[in-house]
Amino acid sequence: MIPATLRDMVPADIDFITELDRALFGVDSWPREMFVGELSQPETRRYIIAELPAAVGHGNAKQTAGYAGLMCVPPIGDIQTIGVLPEFEGRGIARAMLDELIAEAVRRGAEDIMLEVSSTNPRAQKLYLRYGFEHIHTRRRYYRDGSDGLIMRLRLPANSADAHTKDPS
Ligand SMILES: CC(C)(COP(=O)(O)OP(=O)(O)OC[C@H]1O[C@@H](n2cnc3c(N)ncnc32)[C@H](O)[C@@H]1OP(=O)(O)O)[C@@H](O)C(=O)NCCC(=O)NCCS
Repeated sequence: MIPATLRDMVPADIDFITELDRALFGVDSWPREMFVGELSQPETRRYIIAELPAAVGHGNAKQTAGYAGLMCVPPIGDIQTIGVLPEFEGRGIARAMLDELIAEAVRRGAEDIMLEVSSTNPRAQKLYLRYGFEHIHTRRRYYRDGSDGLIMRLRLPANSADAHTKDPS
């Protein structure tokens, strides 16, 4: 399987990512301005894109396979969003992006990483549990689709960017 490469998200990505976000999150997707605002705050944000080589016949072009974003105001980092195109799910692309954003949060001085995940999204919950995130709180009917928001937290031992990647077992 060809591994995805990661790069920073840039303004030229926003139109595509807004469309993808709408397809993945529906009524809970972000408006375009939200991505514009997030990218305008690099001191506390890092947004990344996962890319794969484009299909045969497209030269050296790459295709976007996923995106993810971090807000970090030490000592707390927040995974703001993460999404992978349905046709590229199950290849470890979300894990690669999470690895990068957790390492980034550690570099920026985070001690805890927080995120919210819908109670109706067992696939994402499983991904986070595998990383050691714990479910610490529930926000009832947090999402516009009426589902609860599960608040999850990963405690980071100090100065160990490599210690938080997925348990290979
Ligand atoms: C959740 C999501 C980001 C996972 O992306 P992904 O690239 O497929 O995930 P990975 O391939 O890195 O796999 C990570 C974990 O997801 C789960 N997973 C992967 N493929 C799966 C599949 N086909 N069926 C069920 N679970 C699967 C597994 O827990 C996997 O870990 P494991 O392989 O070690 O068991 C992706 O499904 C997605 O974008 N969903 C829609 C948007 C969304 O829900 N985002 C999260 C909001 S909190």
